[in-house]
Amino acid sequence: MDLFKYGIVSLLCLASFNVAATERWFNQDVVDYGAKLFQQNCAVCHGVNAEGTKEWKKTDANGNYPPPPLDGSAHAWHHSIPQLARSIKEGGIKLGGVMPAFGDKLSDQEVLAVIAFFQSKWPDEVYKVWHDRNMQ
Ligand code: HEC
Repeated sequence: MDLFKYGIVSLLCLASFNVAATERWFNQDVVDYGAKLFQQNCAVCHGVNAEGTKEWKKTDANGNYPPPPLDGSAHAWHHSIPQLARSIKEGGIKLGGVMPAFGDKLSDQEVLAVIAFFQSKWPDEVYKVWHDRNMQ
């Protein structure tokens, strides 16, 4: 019984250490602004919640990759903000993909807001790994 109690107490301690999520670089206003732009420009391919295509690793009949999720479940979190901004501004066509370029359509600030929107979908543990690699 004592051992059981000890287990519960240490579990509770561990849990309270984990509750402090890494602070995000953006606030809710930026996310809301980015959400609007995302719905207008990106949702048609990447989904309204940035959930993308489930089978994003499989090419289609033409050999193209489908739009990947940007919600933290695929590769987007492996990239820094400058790398993500470049993917969005330059698109994928030059690299043999199909995503259009948004460099002429969205300002740098708008691109950042769109990134904040899909980063707001990343779970805390994904955001933390990304943050520790890119924002220190
Ligand atoms: C016509 C469909 C389409 C639209 C519209 C589109 N994308 Fe994409 N996106 C793709 C596809 C497909 C890929 C995979 C690479 C390729 O084929 O170009 C991709 C790749 C990406 C990547 C790289 C993901 C990674 O894991 O490295 C990012 C970031 C991205 N898109 C963000 C956006 C944002 C933000 C918008 C809106 C401003 C947008 N996309 C609009 C289809 C689209």
